[in-house]
Amino acid sequence: MRILRPSDILPSEITPRALFEDRRRFLLGAGATLAAGAAMWAGLPSEARAAAAKLGPLARSPFSSDEPQTPYKAVTTYNNYYEFGTDKEDPAANAGKLTVRPWTVRVEGLAGKARTFDIDDLLKLAPLEERIYRLRCVEAWSMVIPWVGFPLSALLRQVDPQGSAKYVEFVTHYDPKIMLRRPVLDWPYTEGLRIDEAMHPLTLLTLGLYGEVLPNQNGAPVRVVVPWKYGFKSAKSIVAIRLVDKEPRTAWNKSAPSEYGFYSNVNPNVDHPRWSQATERRIGEFRKRPTLMFNGYAEQVANLYQGMDLRKSF
Ligand code: MTE
Repeated sequence: MRILRPSDILPSEITPRALFEDRRRFLLGAGATLAAGAAMWAGLPSEARAAAAKLGPLARSPFSSDEPQTPYKAVTTYNNYYEFGTDKEDPAANAGKLTVRPWTVRVEGLAGKARTFDIDDLLKLAPLEERIYRLRCVEAWSMVIPWVGFPLSALLRQVDPQGSAKYVEFVTHYDPKIMLRRPVLDWPYTEGLRIDEAMHPLTLLTLGLYGEVLPNQNGAPVRVVVPWKYGFKSAKSIVAIRLVDKEPRTAWNKSAPSEYGFYSNVNPNVDHPRWSQATERRIGEFRKRPTLMFNGYAEQVANLYQGMDLRKSF
């Protein structure tokens, strides 16, 4: 990720808009259902949407952080989604062109019951939870985001993964008519996890944030969120999930193998060549805070990596 802007969003810029958004959601959102609203705003630029479709009811996950949440405005205007441009504000400006309905996700490969899921099937597949997770970018900024979704394992179990499935590859949408044609990365953007990482209860198949369907710039209509890994492991706008027997190549690993390994676990002891990983700055704050091993989720995930040298498997 080549962009590091000194002028991150400041709290003074964020708060009034965030308060406004909250009030607007309260006024317009009450009682609106997903079915009623989801198709309405597909294709509209984010700022022009009257109100995004509400998701619910939502169970609050025990995995949720109780730290202050990053305001909606920052979560939805400070993004990495390179298909829509490489500056942080580009995805919010350009991702409105993405049509998120109809949308299907193929779950295929080494599976007894490979099949294609419509986005409406996905929304009903398992109880939706609110998961307030820290997200830490390799660029040394972080956010706390109230995602909505359910464990990816619930989806994978539907297709009956075979014993030979050792990894999961995520393939994302690529449409050169509306997305960057320049080969900034090897499109389509792909990511991968080991099967035990993919099945881990923290790995979230994500359909929304702040109680609403995902804004396009955040990866609508469906993405993953893997909170103990750097943000780039959390692939957006997924169209296929493949169960495979070999470690899949990933978009960032292909572009700069010495900088982006397959695992990409948040690790304050292993620096990226261009950014220290020891500390981070939460968007909206000035001070730096220490980065926590596995982004603070060590208790849940450290056992996945027992016996591995995390300097080599970075
Ligand atoms: N997914 C796709 N398809 N394209 C991308 O460029 N960027 C990744 C990840 N998923 C990216 C992607 C990176 S670098 C980060 S930090 C997170 O998305 C950012 O997610 P957010 O914008 O919702 O915070």
